[in-house]
Formats: sequence, structure tokens, C-alpha cells
Amino acid sequence: MTHGHLDVLDDPFSLARQLSGLNLVDGKLTRPLSKRTFPVVNPATGQHIADAADADAQDVENAVAVAARAQIGWSRLAARERGRLLAEAARRLSAHTEELARLVALETGKALRTECRPEINATADALNFFAGLAPELKGETVPLKPTALTYTTREPLGVVGVIIPWNVPALIMAFKIAPALVAGNAVVVKSAEEAPLGVLRVIQILNTVLPPGVLNILSGDGPGCGGPLVNHPAVRKVTFTGSVETGRIIAHAAAEKLIPVTLELGGKSPMIVMPDADLAQVVEGAVAGMRFTRQGQSCTAASRMLVHSRVHDEFVRRLAERVDGLVMGDPLDEATDIGTIVSRLQYEKVRQYVELGEAQAGAVAIRCSRLPEDPALRKGLFLQPVIFTGLTNESRLAREEIFGPVTCVIRFDTLDEAIDIANDSDYGLAATVWTRDIKVAFTAAQRLEAGLVQVNQNQVAGPNISYGGIKQSGLGKELSLESMVDHFMHKKTVIVNLE
Ligand code: NAI
Ligand code: MG
Repeated sequence: MTHGHLDVLDDPFSLARQLSGLNLVDGKLTRPLSKRTFPVVNPATGQHIADAADADAQDVENAVAVAARAQIGWSRLAARERGRLLAEAARRLSAHTEELARLVALETGKALRTECRPEINATADALNFFAGLAPELKGETVPLKPTALTYTTREPLGVVGVIIPWNVPALIMAFKIAPALVAGNAVVVKSAEEAPLGVLRVIQILNTVLPPGVLNILSGDGPGCGGPLVNHPAVRKVTFTGSVETGRIIAHAAAEKLIPVTLELGGKSPMIVMPDADLAQVVEGAVAGMRFTRQGQSCTAASRMLVHSRVHDEFVRRLAERVDGLVMGDPLDEATDIGTIVSRLQYEKVRQYVELGEAQAGAVAIRCSRLPEDPALRKGLFLQPVIFTGLTNESRLAREEIFGPVTCVIRFDTLDEAIDIANDSDYGLAATVWTRDIKVAFTAAQRLEAGLVQVNQNQVAGPNISYGGIKQSGLGKELSLESMVDHFMHKKTVIVNLE
């Protein structure tokens, strides 16, 4: 595995070592007060590439105190000035796209070309989007009575705790830190154990522009670092993306403190394919929607493909052929479409689901693509994408979030049946419907229980789309102007008596 000549920073191995064992607090890279670290492993080779800070409650105490102090000055800047600084920070980030994309590829195993470069571009885009909204954080006047001037203002909440996962670490972090900062809050991020380095580098670059202390990041585990952050009395809001299980723990802690939370949790997103749909478009949509190039590690993955009996076999054949053509290999290689699963734990979890599915009567598992042959990748966490047919919606594979490259194709015969199956789920994050019939499209859109419904496409939504699920998929929305105003600010009313 050689990667040719690279600028020293574009060499992710050397950058990983430089960032080893560090947090960023008060504008400076610092060692954790805990004095502990944990190893970071390259999932493509199993090699130890760096260590990450293992921050604990003392580190949280320090970072939150720093953020609380910095927030006062930050909130007193003109909103437009906060936006200007964030836009300048995003511009600097873009200049580091290559280096950041390589670092994220190295620690997560996601392919550079198909996943990591697009992720860093989208990260800068999200920062820019919110930066531009800064002057729009307006209040209103209220016609209470003629003898009083009554108006509202939007105020920041204070220090926001941001807890992120490893699947799209930089982008999910941007969805949270950008609106939090533009609204005038200060932030303490807790990164995911599996992907602490790329996001640390992002925060370091943004801190070359932002005032020290407004944007801090700690690396540490869930209970030891995330827990104290959520429970800290000065943290006035928590925004989280991850598992339902952890979301529940965070919601409990927030209930004790009576603070607002935003939770982006799992999904089991249905994709309804009607017999009149353009199958070529559907197959491309299924590959994109299932996030096969991200090894299916997505909360919106189209992991339940509900396909009309008349086109079921043809769809399965064409999808399998298309996924089979994806190249699995070294995440840093430009030829690679699909990299690895992020960690041994996730790898075993996904494999167990595949075994469980194969053991069910009537189930057929179609394995696609080929494992890489490079001996350097022998210990890599590569897993063939699997398309299951013959499973019902009652199967655990159709009910639980697998978070891997495993999808279930389920047959149906009528639209009513498809919608019933689609809604028979604990989750309600996203859904798609594929048809040329306008009545079918709107009927499905009306009846599907999901935060986002797309017709004849399955794309990552833009930053001006409110995004978030219902049922077990979460609480609150992210992205969009209204989500920033509703979830990172409170409304203050002022009544001035003129009598
Ligand atoms: P997780 O929800 O445990 O971890 C996500 C983040 O929460 C990490 O930063 C973690 O350190 C933190 N965390 C864990 N326990 C915590 C606690 N008690 N207090 C505060 N923070 C805590 O998810 P994990 O273990 O990485 O993956 C398990 C499953 O969760 C996956 O297989 C997948 O099904 C789902 N998941 C969903 C994601 C999504 O995008 N909705 C992202 C990652 C995982
Ligand atoms: Mg966990």
C-alpha cells in the first residue's frame, strides 16, 4: 500500500501521530487532565495509528468552564460578525479538504473518493449555510395592547454539549456546531471513540479564526466523558446523533436537568418500488439510498426495500449486478468504492445479523462485490454487501437497525400493503417511493410515517431542509433556519408599558 508522494499534512499517518493524545480547549491543543489515552486503529489493516485523549469528568469541568466564559463575549458580537467569522473559518477548512478527507478515511475505513472527500465538502457547505443565516435571527413585535410595545428577541442558550457518532463525523458535527455557534452559543463537542482525529483537526482549523474557548472538543468514551458533559449544570442544551439506547440515556439526564435535547437516532427506512417505476433510476437510488459505498453505516439507509411482486425479481437481479460492480479495497485508494466497517465490534454485530438471516427458512442471501486480495489488507474489516430476499417484515433483520451493508427486499402486491409494511416499524426517519403515478406518489407521501419522504430520488438532503425523525428515530429537527432558531435559541418577550 503506497500512496505516492504527499504533502506532509496530506499524509494521514503522520497527521494522525501529530494529533495523538490531544483535545482542543480554549483555542489550544492540550493533553487531557485525566492523563489517559486509548488506541486508534486503522480498520483497513488493524494497525495502531495513533492514540486519542481519554478525557474524563475533570476535562469536562474545565472545557465547560472555558466555554461558559467565552460564550459571554461571543454572544455580544453582532450576529453578522459571528457569521462572518464562521464563513472565514469554513473557507480555511476547504483549503484543507484533501488532508481532512484522508484522515477521516484512515480512521473510519470509509473510501476517500466516494465518501470522505464528499463529506468534507459538505461539511464546509453546512458551515457556510449557517454563517449566511446569521443576520436572519430576528424577533417579532406582538400587538398586545396599544399602550405597550411588546417584542421578542432570540437569545442563545449558553453552552451547548454536542455528542457525535463515527459514521459521518465531520458532517454530523457541522450540522450541530454551525447553528449553535451562529446563534451565539459556545460549544463543547465529545467525539466518537472510533473517529476522534478528523474532527479534532476540523476544530483546530476552525479555531484559527474563531475566538478561543467558543469551540472546544474532547475525545473520550460515552459514560466517562459524554455522561459528565450531559450532566454538567452549565450545559444548557445537548444535541446528539447515535443509537436509540444512548439517546434514551441522554434524554433521561436532560429530563433531570430540564434542558432541551435534540436526538437524531436510528432508522429502518423503507423504499417502496411500484411496478411502473423507472427501474434503472430505482437501482441507482437503491445503491445511493442504502449507502452501499459507506458500508450501509447510515441512519437513513434504505434497509427495507419493499418491491412490487411484478418487478421484484428483475429489481433484485439488477441491484445485485450493480452492487457487485462496486470495488472494495484500501479506503485511501482512488479506485475504491467501498472501504471497511468502522470497528471490530460493529463488524461482529453486522456478521451476526447476516448469520441470523441465513438461518431463516426461505431466506436467500446474495453476497456482492469481492473482498480485496491485497495481503496488506488481510486483517481489514471488509464485509461483502448482502441483499436478502425471502425475509418478512417480522424478521429481526427488517426490524432492527443493522448499520451495515445488509438490506432486505420484501415483496408486496398493493400500495396499501406496502404502506402498512413501511409504517410497521419502531422507526420513522426517512422513506422513499418510486412511481410514475402522481396519485400513488402523493398518497404514499401523505401516509408514510417519516420525517422525510422522497419521490423518485434518495439523496442526502440539503442544509435548508428540516431533518429528523419521529417514533424511535428521534426528537427535534436539525438543519434549516427554523431548526437553528427553535433548537439553539430561546424566545424572550419584552413588554414596555407606554402609559
Ligand atoms: P452510541 O450511540 O453508543 O455512540 C454515539 C456517541 O454517543 C459516541 O460519541 C459515544 O461515545 C456517545 N455515548 C455513548 N454512551 C454515552 C453515554 N452514556 N452518555 C453520553 N454519550 C454516550 O453508538 P455506537 O455504540 O457507536 O453504535 C451502536 C449502534 O448505534 C450502531 O450499530 C447503530 O445502529 C447506531 N448508530 C446510529 C447512528 C446514527 O447516525 N443515527 C450513528 C452511530 C451509531
Ligand atoms: Mg455505544
